[in-house]
Amino acid sequence: MARYRIAWMPGDGIGVDVMEGAQIVLDKLALDAEYVLADIGWEFWRTEVDALPKRTVDTLNTCDCALFGAITSKPRDEAEAELIPELQGKGMQYRSPIVHLRQMFDLYNNLRPCRAVPGNRLNYRDDIDLVVFRENTEGLYAGVEFHPLPNAVRQVLTEHNRAMARFEDVPEDEIAITLRVITKNDARRIIRAAFEYARKFNYPTVTIVEKPNILRETSGLMIREARDLAGEYPGIELWETNIDAQMMWLLKNPMDYGVLVTSNMFGDIVSDLSAQLVGGLGFASSGNIGEDFAVFEPTHGSAPKYAAQYKANPMAMFLATKLMIDWLGETDAADALENAVAAVVLEGKVRTYDLGGSNTTLEVAEAVAERL
Ligand code: NAI
Ligand code: MG
Repeated sequence: MARYRIAWMPGDGIGVDVMEGAQIVLDKLALDAEYVLADIGWEFWRTEVDALPKRTVDTLNTCDCALFGAITSKPRDEAEAELIPELQGKGMQYRSPIVHLRQMFDLYNNLRPCRAVPGNRLNYRDDIDLVVFRENTEGLYAGVEFHPLPNAVRQVLTEHNRAMARFEDVPEDEIAITLRVITKNDARRIIRAAFEYARKFNYPTVTIVEKPNILRETSGLMIREARDLAGEYPGIELWETNIDAQMMWLLKNPMDYGVLVTSNMFGDIVSDLSAQLVGGLGFASSGNIGEDFAVFEPTHGSAPKYAAQYKANPMAMFLATKLMIDWLGETDAADALENAVAAVVLEGKVRTYDLGGSNTTLEVAEAVAERL
């Protein structure tokens, strides 16, 4: 039996192309692993009304972790229209399989390293080394939303919060509410993950990015817990910044920052900006990490216009693969893969269209594999 059992979920569009590239690289690394193909994505919504079929969840439950390409998702009306005829008109609701996975497996830590690969012509600067820790299951994306606003909810909110009085006369279908939910336990574990990482890799600071002057309760809780945990990490300085100002500073002085930690939506925003500073979607990788299971993926989506053309840059996928191997504890192999990616980028001979080249996804994979 192989040492590791890894679920293999290409998904849709270029997810399939870049995963084929990842297979080439992993074959060369010869990890002692078994790769188990699992269904996920649009086709399974269309034909089974579930983009994450139960058999896939069962498979994931037998695996150490998963590697994931990308999925397609579409707005409500289009999603309904693309269902096979016998499933239409039944009020089926599309649910994003990746959001579902994060919640089902409690993958609370969305790890997004944004490290400039030297010589990448898409770098904003070459000295950027940011790692974003984004809380992945709560906050504004917890899914606690109301529209139309049920009377009972309105009553309770009005009773407990004076700010609601302003909306007294707004009809129920003319008001929508999304709640930002942050629990102490969740705040602590994402902040702890950030500090542990800073300690392990010698980052001098952890920056907590929130907005406590306005979001007094939820950001307030995050800041309180960050200050409390900082006490356990004497050599690491805690910086507190506001999300809006942080966006400016990341553009102005990105090299001043190292580990950043924040709640779900702010993390979504910070990590996209950070990714763009070091080459954008073709280089942005992420891990969705829980206590004993994790799913690794490039940050990009399925880019349908490039599907099955092997034009997509697979480097983001390789860097996600690197994160996975690292998480499994195979640090030598992980370093080798990161170095191979860096060597191919620095040499600049084999490159996809986004880097001004005309090589295919698989040619880049072969070039990286050759360096291993
Ligand atoms: P996208 O990330 O798929 O693509 C946006 C554009 O970025 C592409 O058209 C392409 O020009 C470029 N791009 C993306 N990845 C690239 C790569 N590896 N190499 C070179 N260029 C690359 O985002 P978009 O177009 O907004 O969404 C397309 C579909 O993907 C939608 O159905 C969306 O819901 C889904 N999506 C899925 C995600 C996931 O699986 N985690 C994340 C984001 C979007
Ligand atoms: Mg995003």
